[in-house]
Amino acid sequence: MAVGIFDSGLGGLTVYDAVTKRLPDVSFVYYGDNKHAPYGVRDAQDVYELTKAAVTRLWDMGCTLVILACNTASAAALRRMQEEGVPPGKRVLGVFVPLIEALTERQWGDNSPPREVAVKHVALFATPATVASRAFQRELAFRAIGVDVEAQACGGVVDAIEDGDMILAEALVRSHVDALKRKMPTPEAAILGCTHYPLMAEVFQDALGAGVKVFSQADLVAESLADYLGRRPEMEGPAVTAPDGGPLLLTTGNPAKVSDHATRFLRRRLAFTAA
Ligand code: DGL
Repeated sequence: MAVGIFDSGLGGLTVYDAVTKRLPDVSFVYYGDNKHAPYGVRDAQDVYELTKAAVTRLWDMGCTLVILACNTASAAALRRMQEEGVPPGKRVLGVFVPLIEALTERQWGDNSPPREVAVKHVALFATPATVASRAFQRELAFRAIGVDVEAQACGGVVDAIEDGDMILAEALVRSHVDALKRKMPTPEAAILGCTHYPLMAEVFQDALGAGVKVFSQADLVAESLADYLGRRPEMEGPAVTAPDGGPLLLTTGNPAKVSDHATRFLRRRLAFTAA
């Protein structure tokens, strides 16, 4: 049974890692559009077209449900794809809602009116496109009132991670945290609103200080997917595997380079093939 996991590149592997551990009996197909990463500097139309093409490919391959393990795609394309209508029996979900439910201490599907929550000052780190979309603030406003969100567009971080340049990625994260702190000196919580950023989670936590609670998506998305598939088991769809019976990992980029970086990030052998 296969669920598609899509990202612009390597970042969705943080979600892939968590969902494969949480749901070991479900087969997952990973699709990284590394050739076109980063998405975060593209305009909304561009992100929409790239995302739609990748998700359609995963559906055509037999995936019933596709998770956009990419905040930029979730911000720029998800609502539009859902409004335009998806093929019968197919479904596409994003990664914002589980994160916001955790931040606002809500149970899944709690649609009660927005209310006051414990955290008042929240730092949001995301790509320029996600920050510009204000999608996070919009989703938050449905659930919470009185939360002050300061967003920091973290230019360059995704490029550095995609290139495997973790020294540059660390320097950029520290400078983006400094910039955020100049605008909001004492956030209570920080949201890593890009699936690439959990790869730098320790740097974010160190730069923010131990007193800041850092929320990242991977485990939250895994929990909410487990809950969803428990209620909708038919959404697992038929199994899709690689010809050798292993997991199917696809990239539009260079498979050797992507396999190399992915293996280093997740500390287990991951073999990508051309999408
Ligand atoms: N992992 C994507 C996200 O969550 C990165 C987007 C990009 O390619 O810039 O936003």
